[in-house]
Parts: sequence; C-alpha cells; structure tokens
Amino acid sequence: MAVLDRITSQEAMDLENKYGAHNYHPLPVVLNRGEGVFVWDVEGKKYYDFLSAYSAVNQGHCHPKIVNAMTSQAQTLSLTSRAFYNDVLGKYEKFATEFFGFDKLLPMNTGAEAVETALKLCRRWAYEVKGIDENDAEIIVCKDNFHGRTTTIISFSNDPVACKNFGPFTKGFTKIEYDNLLALEEALKSNPNIAGFLVEPIQGEAGVYVPSEGYLSKAKALCEAHNVLFIADEVQTGIARTGQLLAVNHENVTPDILILGKALSGGAYPVSAVLANDSIMDVITPGSHGSTFGGNPIAAAVAIAALEVVQDENLAENAENLGQLFRSEINKFIETSNIATLVRGKGLLNAILINDDEESDTAWNICMALRDNGLLAKPTHGNIIRFAPPLVMTKEQLLDCVGIITKTLKQFES
Ligand SMILES: Cc1ncc(COP(=O)(O)O)c(C=O)c1O
Repeated sequence: MAVLDRITSQEAMDLENKYGAHNYHPLPVVLNRGEGVFVWDVEGKKYYDFLSAYSAVNQGHCHPKIVNAMTSQAQTLSLTSRAFYNDVLGKYEKFATEFFGFDKLLPMNTGAEAVETALKLCRRWAYEVKGIDENDAEIIVCKDNFHGRTTTIISFSNDPVACKNFGPFTKGFTKIEYDNLLALEEALKSNPNIAGFLVEPIQGEAGVYVPSEGYLSKAKALCEAHNVLFIADEVQTGIARTGQLLAVNHENVTPDILILGKALSGGAYPVSAVLANDSIMDVITPGSHGSTFGGNPIAAAVAIAALEVVQDENLAENAENLGQLFRSEINKFIETSNIATLVRGKGLLNAILINDDEESDTAWNICMALRDNGLLAKPTHGNIIRFAPPLVMTKEQLLDCVGIITKTLKQFES
C-alpha cells in the first residue's frame, strides 16, 4: 500500500492500533475532512462535530481566513527560530496584547508548554519581585485540575490514570478544593511562600464544573490581598468558548497571568501563549526560557487570523446565545426523561450527566449511538458527556443537534 492510498475506516484504525502508542481511547470513527461545524469520515458519512478537538476548533473546521493565512505564510517563511527576528511575530504580539489587554506575550506551542511557562514565570516573580527565598515558592492548585501532561503538571494532578508510575514528581504545589474560597483563604494565610494560584475558570476535563458565581472575582481579590499571582488557565475556556472572550470576563476579572492555547489558532496549528504585564513578564531574560517553534511566523500569522475571526463573526455572542438555547432545550428534555439528570455549562462548553454509575459504560454507548445518528461527542469522566461544538454554529443547526441528542438519549431510557 502506498502511504497516501485511500484506506477504509477499519484499515486506518488497525494501523493506529498496531503502530501507534495506545495513549488514547478514541471513538471508532475515522475522519478525513472538515468544514465549519461538520466533519466527514473516510466512507463519506457527515457528522456534526460536538467536541471541536477539545475546544480548539472554535472558529470551525478549515476556516478559509485561517487556512489562507497559514498557507500563504507557509509559502513565504515558516521558521526562523528566535535566534533571529521575523517580520510577523512582533505584529502578532502587538495585536494579541491589545486584544486581551496585557503588556506582553510569550509565545509557545501547546497548552501544556504554556502552563509550564506560567509556572516558571510565577516562580521567578516570587524570588525576584516578591522576595521569597529561592526554592521555597509554592503555587496553589485545585483538586481535579487538568492543565496538561508534562511531568511537573501531572505532579499536581489527582487523577491516578494521569500520574501513576510517572514519579518522582515536582514539589512546590499546594492542592485545595475547587470552588472553595475558605480553603483558598486558609492556604494563603497559612503560608507566606505562596507565589500564585493556578485555576481553570471552569474545570473542563473534570466534567465542565462551573464554580459558584463570584468565586473567580473573590479568589482574585484574595490573591491581591496576599500579593499572590492569579493565574488563569484559559486553554480550554478562552477565545469565546464560554460566551465571553475569556471565561474570567464573566466576573470582570483580569488575571495576573493568562494562559491560552487551542483556539488561539482555530485548531489549525499548535499555538499557545502566556500573557502578563511588564512588572511580571520582565523577570524573563534572554536564555531563561524559550522554544524553537514558539513564535514562528506561521503560528503568528495563523493566530492573528484566528482572533480576527472571533471578533468579525461575533463568536462570543453566538456562543452565549446558543449556549442558553442548548441548556434550556436539554433541560426541557431532562424534565421528561430519566436518562440524564443535569445539564451544566457556560456558552458552548456544556456537559450532560448520565443517570448511571461512574464506572458504567452507558455514556460511551450513548456517544456510539450519537455517532451512528450523525453527531460526535465524547465522555469526559465516566458518566459525563461534554458538548462543545464549533462556535460558528447557527441556531437551526443547534436545534437540529438538540433533536439528534434527545432522540439518542431516548434510546437509552429505562
Ligand atoms: C485547561 C487546560 N490546560 C491545559 C491543557 C493542555 O493543552 P495541550 O493538550 O495543548 O497541551 C488542556 C488540554 O485539554 C486544558 O484543558
């Protein structure tokens, strides 16, 4: 078989199973084309994408403006490394810092790299600005967090599947309950070496846990009172996903450090970033941090286009409106059914709780039936299904999807 010959779904899955490491458990569907809110499998069947590559494809698949930016930059100059300047990075940094309201941006590639960058930035700030003794800085994190897969990041995960047998782990993290201001206050008061508080404005991977109203703004105020940096990981919640440009905007919070990834490129290319003001970012000096690909011209061109699409197409407003419609329609269904117990979320980041044990495979089986009915979604943890379509969806499409979801859920009623 020539490498680029067309293959069937079964052949594609067999190849991945035989030659790829088994670090994922994908839904058995093999995609080879995407446009807007739709994807197609290799046999030509069309599906609504209700995952958006874990909220990376907010702008829709193969958005022409993003594809054009990427291909024209790829034909001009792709990579210089940061050993030299390129003529796109500075334009992107100016555009993005103005867009999000910070002095400076540090470009990386993946979400995990950006989280690592934020942790290093926070520690340096702790030693060089706050005056904590070297190696004593602590960063507060939340139980059930998900911030990526590097050794340091999994050091503060409590998911055994993510961390078992990957130790020894990195020290310097204090874990508290999510959405618990008393726990935060206690942790801040009891240790003068706290440098930062790293938090997801909504815990996405954990199952779309939306904290109580006021949690983020009060947490920010507590951090300010203790001279501790509030670090928002908006890799999944950012870029219009939750109905505002950033999820922290719902509570008018400006983080000290903002972490972005995923939809910063519309899913076209790995682009992540850390944003902060000069008083924090200036602790980063030449040689102290970097990445060969971070800030490359393609990434910079793609990110500018991806952010312009968010603005030009009012994606935050659309996510807010369609999210309300989605939850109200699903709530109507839940009142009449025993298969789902709850729908929760903000904007177009939502989850449905399936009425079965965490260990049961009902949520997985529902996702298989959704696939057969033309809609792709995936369980997060056990009995929770996340629903996160591209934000370019129309009202008619959303209602069509609600029809597919409720029809499918009905198949599982007892
Ligand atoms: C909140 C959050 N932070 C970080 C990451 C890691 O991003 P990446 O997979 O690009 O490394 C994710 C990925 O899902 C995430 O949801």
